[in-house]
Amino acid sequence: MTIATDLENRFAEREAQLLDDLFAFLRIPSVSAKAEHNADTQRAAAWVHGRFEKMGFTVETCPTPGHPVVLAEWRKAPAGAPTFLVYGHYDVQPAEPLNLWTSPAFEPTIRDGKLFARGSVDDKGQLFAHIAALETMLEVRGKLPVNVIVIAEGEEEVGSENLAPFIEKHKKRLACDGVVISDSSMFAPGIPSILSSLRGLAYFEINVRGPAQDLHSGSYGGAVVNPAMALARILATMHDANGKIMIDGFYDDVLPFPPDVIAGMRKLPFDEENFRKEVGATSLGGEPQFTVLEKLWTRPTCEVNGLLSGYTGEGAKTVLPGVSMAKVSCRLVPKQDPAKIEALMKAHVAKVAPKGVQVTVTHLHGGKPWRADLEGPLFEAAKKALAAAFGRAPEVTGEGGSIPVVGDFERILGVPVLLMGFGLPGENAHAPDEWMSVDNFKLGMRAIAALFEELGAGGVS
Ligand code: BES
Ligand code: ZN
Repeated sequence: MTIATDLENRFAEREAQLLDDLFAFLRIPSVSAKAEHNADTQRAAAWVHGRFEKMGFTVETCPTPGHPVVLAEWRKAPAGAPTFLVYGHYDVQPAEPLNLWTSPAFEPTIRDGKLFARGSVDDKGQLFAHIAALETMLEVRGKLPVNVIVIAEGEEEVGSENLAPFIEKHKKRLACDGVVISDSSMFAPGIPSILSSLRGLAYFEINVRGPAQDLHSGSYGGAVVNPAMALARILATMHDANGKIMIDGFYDDVLPFPPDVIAGMRKLPFDEENFRKEVGATSLGGEPQFTVLEKLWTRPTCEVNGLLSGYTGEGAKTVLPGVSMAKVSCRLVPKQDPAKIEALMKAHVAKVAPKGVQVTVTHLHGGKPWRADLEGPLFEAAKKALAAAFGRAPEVTGEGGSIPVVGDFERILGVPVLLMGFGLPGENAHAPDEWMSVDNFKLGMRAIAALFEELGAGGVS
């Protein structure tokens, strides 16, 4: 298969304009985690809404208890044509620390073929690749080969709490033959990828309270339990020296990956020493019996995401802090369950907490892990479409990150989910200087158009 000439020509003509349009989308600081950006998040939803309306979709911006869901539908495909649901998110992570950006987070800039901006790759650029593909097909052909439903949500970066209820509520209307998501990365430049797994998540805040207030560390230190030290002791019990998680029962539900999937991972061209250099660490860690890719894609974690206690300003201050706090999250693998991990974490902390402090563990949000079987016409079509756009067959890869709603789509709608992302390793998602490869944006929209063509031609049954 190749990209149809009429589409290819129009993509080539529109490319510069499409990038300009994406810049406008990226300039909206739709940071879902921060209430001060609520109006911007609303504006990003309106931007997506307007774009689909212009394309001739029927669009609704549906309120939720949090940020709205934009639901766009195009149902004029020939009778008997299948229906596909495209999911993406218009919200972004906070841009802080701002001083570490080479160019401002919400002023998109291209340097060296990389489009720098918060949300460029996660996920506005990838969502917009779908918009650009559908729009170009409609422009050239006046129609799409399949019926398309688009869900653009504004809460992915804060846990998608309101999306599963939304899908459940609109289950009938969202009935489709498959879900297509571009919110992940390719294995390497030039190597298109289809994801076969995602890790899940259980996110906690641990608060430790010691004395009623901060104390002079000379007058009281040694006689009063220090909450910062207590927290350090609690955290230190979570792993053994080899990186194994020591929370009772933590691994009980871990289902080993099938040997052929592991064999596939071991065949991928991955250089662990390069990976070490890329992350800039002096050496790598984790359970020694697993390769880096196995650690990232098939093993659960327990990590500190943030720590706070005592005096952290300039110079020295002799103080015994009254409180300490840690954000701790566990990445989960099939069949671990966030609710069960929550219970295990709470029991573990209660068991190891030293006397003299009060410790609370709060579960902030979670998501189930996911594994696909990658069988069927949706995946066959994706293989052809990616090969047509990128000039080589895709690899099947795993992923260490989480997209909680993927499992919900599969469970509620009862259809396969295709994860076909266009990010790249080192793209700095969630970090300063996030970027998306301009080439991947361009090839990505071609692959998406080819996918719908293929799905329209072959049907799915
Ligand atoms: N796009 C990412 C998921 C992802 C991360 C895919 C890395 C491929 C590689 C998504 O936007 C994300 O960041 N998800 C959060 C989910 C969490 C807030 C529940 C994550 O993984 O931390
Ligand atoms: Zn993200």
